Amino acid sequence: MDVERLLEPVMQSSGKIVGVVDTHVHADHISGAREAQRLCRCPLYMSKTASVKFEIEPLDEGEVELSGLRLRIIDTPGHSPENLSIVVDDRVLLSGDCLLVGDVGRVDLRGRAEDLYTSLHSKLLALDDSVEVLPAHIGRQHFVSGESSSTIGIERRSNPALQMKSIEEFRTYMAEGWPPKPEHYELFIKVNSGQIPLSEAQAIVRKAEGELV
Ligand SMILES: [Fe+2]
Repeated sequence: MDVERLLEPVMQSSGKIVGVVDTHVHADHISGAREAQRLCRCPLYMSKTASVKFEIEPLDEGEVELSGLRLRIIDTPGHSPENLSIVVDDRVLLSGDCLLVGDVGRVDLRGRAEDLYTSLHSKLLALDDSVEVLPAHIGRQHFVSGESSSTIGIERRSNPALQMKSIEEFRTYMAEGWPPKPEHYELFIKVNSGQIPLSEAQAIVRKAEGELV
């Protein structure tokens, strides 16, 4: 929710934020996208497959131009049903939580391994090796390498999840080795999809914690 800190460098420059994109309904934190949209007075974009109870500009697969940039919108479900990836000017891939650095997004909160396998192999690995990869999330490998960005070529060669050559192999790979599910993740999903306001989620957490004391 602490979006002002993130927006400040742009606000203080001559740049202008013309749109906010939320790549998916997050399950591990409260999204600041709606607050950023309010502060910037611009549209909030999400995949047209997103099931949310607030106003968005739905993005369909294909090319759109925004403020002089050519954006290729790619639906990449798997980590979550509505995960969106965007290729900017054929050079940079914003991969949401589909393809991470040395890792992929977990599927045990809102996703399906089969969908993720298809999104990775049929869609993102079709991109050129030179495309830079900027994910929305660090992966488990981040704690070893410290890297937060990569390229399609590096990931194609070295990402362990991409070495699984069948859906069955991939499903087994995705079934273990993940951190525990985030506490209250179902509430994060409800807030981030607009089903309940943040204040209601906070009251539920306070009550649950009070009952534990
Ligand atoms: Fe996520």
